[in-house]
Amino acid sequence: MSERTQVVQPPKHVAQPPPVIIPPDEDQTYDQIALRSYSLIQKIQGGLKYLWVRLRGGPMLVNMEVTHFCNARCDFCDFWKTERSGKLSDYDYIDAIRQLNPMAVTLTGGEPTINKQLPEVVRQIKSCSGYIYVGMVTHGSLMTMEKAAALWEAGIDQISISLNYVGSEHDEERGIEGLYDHLNTLIPQMAAHGINVILNTVVMRDNMDHIIPIAYKAREWGAKVSFSCYSDFKNGNVLHLIDPDHIDQVEQVIENLLALKPKLGNIISSDFFLRGIPDYFKNNIPSTCNVAGKWLVQLTPDGDIKPCPELPVSSHYSDFKSTTEPIVCDRCWYSCRGETEASLTFERVMELIGRL
Ligand SMILES: C[S@@+](CC[C@H](N)C(=O)[O-])C[C@H]1O[C@@H](n2cnc3c(N)ncnc32)[C@H](O)[C@@H]1O
Ligand code: SF4
Ligand code: SF4
Repeated sequence: MSERTQVVQPPKHVAQPPPVIIPPDEDQTYDQIALRSYSLIQKIQGGLKYLWVRLRGGPMLVNMEVTHFCNARCDFCDFWKTERSGKLSDYDYIDAIRQLNPMAVTLTGGEPTINKQLPEVVRQIKSCSGYIYVGMVTHGSLMTMEKAAALWEAGIDQISISLNYVGSEHDEERGIEGLYDHLNTLIPQMAAHGINVILNTVVMRDNMDHIIPIAYKAREWGAKVSFSCYSDFKNGNVLHLIDPDHIDQVEQVIENLLALKPKLGNIISSDFFLRGIPDYFKNNIPSTCNVAGKWLVQLTPDGDIKPCPELPVSSHYSDFKSTTEPIVCDRCWYSCRGETEASLTFERVMELIGRL
């Protein structure tokens, strides 16, 4: 296994409450929350594109960084300190997407909603290839119902909103006052409009008691939830990693999530990914990464390619060549890594077909 930064013990005053275990309400049943409804032709196009990308050898997912600027203040990510950023008008991003021709594009950043032309960007990406699934991930502070509706009308397939806490701790984490209350109003409105809203929740030391409540809160809002794992690879902050003393808590939380998944019907993380979470925090995942630079690539606002969010630029998009050997790295269990691995398994394809 590759060398990982040593996990430091939390300062004495940081109390770690046990995870809140909310037993499933036996009397209540929930409908599965469906994806956007697709026509039979679109489903066939999607299936054929998936097979074609598999045979071609990737990339399956392009994380497209719209800007590196951000108006938040997270202590685990340094994008908000960015002083200079490229922008989409600096290069021919449609040519880049056409050449990479992935199954899915996620608009990300920095904070993507800083770009005011996003609906037009979505429209262009959707029409530049036969089938392409387009999503975005945002902290949501600049999102409004009007902007969300414009993105939906432009054809975006999902809007992911980051949420690591239920309540005002989320404002503190992001350094944005009133953010949780804003999301508490906005997300149910977006869901009621029919928009496919997915909460993006990072599992870390500080929020283990919020994981199950977030799944319920998402359900109450009419949203889905997708989990990811904290990594110190972004800016070296090890304080949010889960240390050996708290592994049993994360194992318990994951067991609860797996049990809740069929009941709530809105937890879209694969079983494969969820089961990998305790192993990741125990430094027990494979020491090689099979997806970075092959099935998953990061497109920067300058039109460069990085194999993944954390590795340096490897080429300009016009010179992109898929990585042929797995990269020796176990520094993250991000959903974009783990779910791309999962989506290559037969089990996951069947799970997705089931959802459609
Ligand atoms: C880099 S952000 C960009 C999009 C947007 N600014 C946001 O925060 O939603 C993309 C996702 O990465 C997550 N993230 C940021 N730093 C992370 C870290 N150190 N480990 C794991 N996930 C992280 C964020 O919570 C967010 O869901
Ligand atoms: S995680 Fe998102 S919101 Fe936080 S600093 Fe990074 S880009 Fe900004
Ligand atoms: S995606 Fe792969 S290469 Fe990139 S940080 Fe994660 S494990 Fe390492």
